[in-house]
Amino acid sequence: MQTLTPKQQGVLQFVEKYSIKNAFAPSLEEIKKHFKLRSVATVHQHLTTLEDKGFVKREKNQQRSIILQPIHQIMQPIISPFVAVPVFARKKLPLNQIICGDAIEIMRAMPTASVDMVVTSPPYDSIRDYKGFSLNLSAIGEEIHRVLKEGGVAAMVIQDQTKNFGKSLTSFRTIIDWCDRIGFKLFETVIYRKYGAEGAWWSKRFRVDHEYIPVFLKGERPQYFEKTHLKIPSKHGGKTMTGGGTRLTNGIRIATRPITINPMKCRGTIWEYLTAGDGSRLKHEHPATFPNQLPYDFIQCFCPKDGIVLDPFVGSGTTIVAAKNLGRSYIGIDIAPEYCTIAKKRMEIECSPSQQTRML
Ligand SMILES: C[S@@+](CC[C@H](N)C(=O)[O-])C[C@H]1O[C@@H](n2cnc3c(N)ncnc32)[C@H](O)[C@@H]1O
Repeated sequence: MQTLTPKQQGVLQFVEKYSIKNAFAPSLEEIKKHFKLRSVATVHQHLTTLEDKGFVKREKNQQRSIILQPIHQIMQPIISPFVAVPVFARKKLPLNQIICGDAIEIMRAMPTASVDMVVTSPPYDSIRDYKGFSLNLSAIGEEIHRVLKEGGVAAMVIQDQTKNFGKSLTSFRTIIDWCDRIGFKLFETVIYRKYGAEGAWWSKRFRVDHEYIPVFLKGERPQYFEKTHLKIPSKHGGKTMTGGGTRLTNGIRIATRPITINPMKCRGTIWEYLTAGDGSRLKHEHPATFPNQLPYDFIQCFCPKDGIVLDPFVGSGTTIVAAKNLGRSYIGIDIAPEYCTIAKKRMEIECSPSQQTRML
């Protein structure tokens, strides 16, 4: 266990608070000013100690060089040298905010086991130009796993790029990495069947009309599961049919009898969404949104009513609009300021009371 002097604790706390508020770390000059120190050399000294003790890392040749280290590595005595309390346990989550910054860095500043659900779609295979940002999906998985509560679920919309008649396999590799290395369970893989996508005619391959939504579970079992809203119409709903007799597990056979088919049935693992005409012109200023209904379905299914939903790649804000309209708290992160602005505008327009019941 590492101990810190009150001065070092003060510097660390300032860096934490500043990073959460601004989505980037303070410069040495700003730390100097805050603590009314005589020179940057003293700040440098404190940071070197914090780095030696594993609380922060520093990148070379960067003005804002401080990177806070993940909470699970950060233990320090607060009450007495014998009582270890995670430093970040006292830190507040940036609730109901859209934060502009790198998803990994922002999540690293969030407390462990603090979020109930993640609904997201990361950039993959450089398939689209999101203002030129790229991403390490493995590191993202680690942080998502850390910030999720026990029983929390992450639903991630993902596909593979096709190149020279072969798929990139990013989706499958990510699933295996997140489960085998990081420790998630794969609760299910939902197929998102897209209707209304532009009808390109590919002469040498299939037109792809689905994406994968692996549903990752942290821990033993989902903390919340409610699927009554996911019903779909039965093909033969309302008809009375006489089927074959049913054999029970104990071997007893129930005689053939007429059964009236329920008008609605439980949805399986193929979830269908119409993409044409989905959402506003403002939403489609973003190049790769998912359907408005999709996060409503997942949040109602896996997020407790007073829970917190995180989208680390919030884009135009589709997830957090749904979270807010469903009465959940939210955190949205995106690296591109332009998309954060779109998401903020959408929250203002689409979370008005008149909109709140539209997608339920
Ligand atoms: C597929 S889009 C998400 C779209 C969103 N689901 C919607 O419906 O609007 C992925 C987003 O990830 C953002 N992004 C890319 N790299 C990032 C990073 N390192 N940290 C945070 N966001 C990033 C992009 O700017 C883009 O908006």
